[in-house]
Amino acid sequence: MSVDLSREDGVAVLTVNRPDALNAFDVATLSDLRDHLRQLAEESEARVVILTGAGDRAFAAGADIKYMSGLDVDGAKKWGELGHEVGHLLETMPKPTIAAINGFALGGGCELALACDFRYASSNAKLGQPEVNLGIIPGWGGTQRLARVVGLGLAKELVLTGRVIDADEALRIGLVNAVYEPGELMPKTLEVARGLAAKAPLALAAAKEAVNRALAGDHGDNLDREADYFGELFSSEDATEGMTAFVAKREPRFTGR
Ligand code: HXC
Repeated sequence: MSVDLSREDGVAVLTVNRPDALNAFDVATLSDLRDHLRQLAEESEARVVILTGAGDRAFAAGADIKYMSGLDVDGAKKWGELGHEVGHLLETMPKPTIAAINGFALGGGCELALACDFRYASSNAKLGQPEVNLGIIPGWGGTQRLARVVGLGLAKELVLTGRVIDADEALRIGLVNAVYEPGELMPKTLEVARGLAAKAPLALAAAKEAVNRALAGDHGDNLDREADYFGELFSSEDATEGMTAFVAKREPRFTGR
């Protein structure tokens, strides 16, 4: 298997495991990731998904350039579609997804990290969209998601120059949420994930879907959807439990119903 899945309580950790190629995605690896994500999206036991890379050098150095060098137009479009499906799953599955960026996150690696809800990086991480240096462009959502995360001006600079940035710059421009020493990255990411796994899953799913709408579509319609989600959550046992526990001054016990 080219992507490993481990589980700890409600936290699923997906590790891209091709360290000899700096975890670059070939067809088998990207398909494997897609299959795991499809399954985790449906599973109620998996409450949070973490995506990371094997070894201490790379999250993922992008799509496999050796594979891509042999593609024709139709093959390249299919390759783009597979990456888009993976990005869509990370972005829309009804549970939080977190990228733990443990080194290079370049090209498609950066793009899949951008599709996650949060990004944490090790202090030795390097991020960028260097595709232009290969005569191509980001093809797994990077042109759109990078602009949404860091703004149009910075996204254009990074995509058009292919400049690779370090973790501190990524933090400064909002590309990552926090930076940790390499040995601290997974413990800190797991700590956040465990906290999320203890929260009410229906509320997390509604919150993610509502915030996902913020930069797309009609603002008024999106506010109406927020109002719908807010109201509908009042039929959940977890909303009753959360508010009752607060009033009773005790910790809530959420069940996902
Ligand atoms: C295939 C890759 C790879 C990649 C690294 N490797 N990146 N193989 N595809 N994207 C392989 C190298 O060939 C080498 O294997 C091994 O990993 C170690 O890499 P080195 O280059 O020897 O390491 P280093 O000198 O430390 O340089 C690290 C690096 C460099 C700066 C990350 O590897 C690099 O620039 N990689 C390409 C990064 C990139 O351009 N990514 C974007 C790809 S396009 P061998 O066996 O040769 O020794 C993309 C498009 C996505 O992602 C959208 C598609 C639709």
